[in-house]
Amino acid sequence: MNNNIVYKYENEIDKNQLVSLFNSVGWKTAEYPNRLCSAIKHSDYVMSVWNNNELIGLISAISDGAINVFITYLLVKPKYQKQGIGKILLTDFCKKFEGFGRRIVSTEIDKEEFYNKFGFVINGIVMFNKDWKNDF
Ligand SMILES: CC(C)(COP(=O)(O)OP(=O)(O)OC[C@H]1O[C@@H](n2cnc3c(N)ncnc32)[C@H](O)[C@@H]1OP(=O)(O)O)[C@@H](O)C(=O)NCCC(=O)NCCS
Repeated sequence: MNNNIVYKYENEIDKNQLVSLFNSVGWKTAEYPNRLCSAIKHSDYVMSVWNNNELIGLISAISDGAINVFITYLLVKPKYQKQGIGKILLTDFCKKFEGFGRRIVSTEIDKEEFYNKFGFVINGIVMFNKDWKNDF
């Protein structure tokens, strides 16, 4: 494990760093930098991972503070995956929101096994009403 890696709780993250992170895993959100910055800024929970000045991972969530908490993003740059970073992020999230009635994530089917390790199980379906017309 790289000794320069640090974890931070902060909501205001440089736009270029966010775009680079989201692009690294091929997520469309990277095409909407202003929305992305705003979404992270207004999240109830954000933990970011840095290797010196490079943003290499992030988890974010929105919560009603009592029953429901929804993971909006969890991602690690490919070069840094499979080194335990995702586990540290999701473990911190689970600890922070321990006791909540519903801890929810929408993800792809190939991530089922990863989330199973942290107690998430498939329950019902998720439906989206998408609108990606403009960046702010
Ligand atoms: C999913 C993701 C966050 C995992 O991060 P990571 O840093 O590679 O995960 P870790 O190295 O901490 O792995 C933790 C454990 O999960 C396992 N794991 C990691 N990715 C896995 C996968 N895709 N399928 C099954 N198990 C997986 C690891 O082997 C490890 O198991 P262990 O604790 O028994 O040794 C990362 O692969 C990623 O960013 N993917 C692209 C974005 C994405 O799809 N995010 C999730 C949707 S919200």
